Amino acid sequence: MPVHSTTATAYLNDMRVLTGITTSGIPHLGNYVGAIRPALAASRRGGVDAFYFMADYHALIKCDDPARVQHSRLAIAATWLAAGLDPDKATIYRQSDIPEIPELTWLLTCVTAKGLLNRAHAYKAAVDANATAGEDPDAGVTAGLYMYPVLMAADILAFNAHKVPVGRDQVQHIEMARDIAQRFNHIYGSDFFVLPEAAVEEQVATLPGLDGRKMSKSYDNTIPLFEGGARATRAAIMRIVTDSREPGEPKDPDASSLFTIFRAFAAPEETAAFRDELEGGLGWGEAKQRLFERIDSELAPMRDRYAHLMAHPDEVEAILMAGAARARRIATPLLAQLRDAVGLGHGKARSAGGRKKGRKKAARQARFVSFREKDGSFRFRLLSADGEELALSRGFDDPRTSGEAIRDLLAAADAIEIVPEGEVLAVQVAGATVALTPSGVDAGAQAERIRASLAALAAEKEG
Ligand code: TRP
Repeated sequence: MPVHSTTATAYLNDMRVLTGITTSGIPHLGNYVGAIRPALAASRRGGVDAFYFMADYHALIKCDDPARVQHSRLAIAATWLAAGLDPDKATIYRQSDIPEIPELTWLLTCVTAKGLLNRAHAYKAAVDANATAGEDPDAGVTAGLYMYPVLMAADILAFNAHKVPVGRDQVQHIEMARDIAQRFNHIYGSDFFVLPEAAVEEQVATLPGLDGRKMSKSYDNTIPLFEGGARATRAAIMRIVTDSREPGEPKDPDASSLFTIFRAFAAPEETAAFRDELEGGLGWGEAKQRLFERIDSELAPMRDRYAHLMAHPDEVEAILMAGAARARRIATPLLAQLRDAVGLGHGKARSAGGRKKGRKKAARQARFVSFREKDGSFRFRLLSADGEELALSRGFDDPRTSGEAIRDLLAAADAIEIVPEGEVLAVQVAGATVALTPSGVDAGAQAERIRASLAALAAEKEG
């Protein structure tokens, strides 16, 4: 497992995918379709090292009801396990069981520009609301809300995650985590942190709620997932708002959230058949019953497991503690390294020039970072020691061929050709283009940096 990918071989193995769920509520059907189900599907793809955690420190920022935080942590963990998360394959844990996270939060806080946090959407929204209300700009804003992005950066960076699946509203936080990581790497002169990337699943449906708006706790329009049993799910479905067309009258499936929800659970043929029936005059009451049955056939087995886990919290506890132990096997050594880097280590004293030396070393540490495109292809970037993109590879069909291309680049480090191609430069091995530089770079200097980085990486690999 890569702790950080400074060598070409590191990411031939695993891509670490990590995401957190704030423990202030109970998962509903929209969470299942929009986040849980796609995340579990992603974790089953080969070559993925999945980390899922209950962001219970984050919950304290918006919730001061201990019973609610406590119940939500259990319910969310039980939901993920019931929905098919295999704790032997993926790592599931609570944020608050990882003391390295708050510790890293402080180290990151000290390199984070206050101005960066001023620009965070959630904080800005609070300030704007205060301005509109004629209040003091920071009225009701805790330092916790302000620091939210730094805690989130620590969640990600403590495990050197490559990919962070999130909703669109969280993308800014991932960009901040990258910024903070880059800044720390630069100041302390080494590639301590992988620069994480947000993964926003474009195809995943946003489920409408009972009233047709996005399903969300804040609109009070949700359909329960497991909590309350089949009865609660069914009762909510019966409350989906429909138009007043009678049985026998043709319905417009595309104007109905009932149909959209059905589609999120059914195969295309089933969906097409349901559309025909609605257009043919199926009554809304009957349609709701069909929707419930369709959903229930997917959820019923999971619901049983959920009920079992909620009744046996000790089983969930054991899984979470094992997950925390596994997660800490990565975070503990990383934090030891970081403490040492900033001068808080217990080992041998650093010489006064230690930091400078570190910087010089970093100047040689370029690296490859591989990732998966939305279209399913695999690419890698060659990054300079500062994290700047030197070149972006073409797309490969699978991670193995992408890895081979990196090996070829390193093997041919002093025989590669760098030639102009339109506005950019093409990096070629044996006449075939492997990667392109960004546009607008100084051709001579860029070619020189690429050659130097590859030579350094090739030397590092040999040595
Ligand atoms: N802020 C995220 C949300 O509200 C939850 C979260 C906390 C998270 N830490 C994270 C998500 C780290 C991804 C990675 O949705």
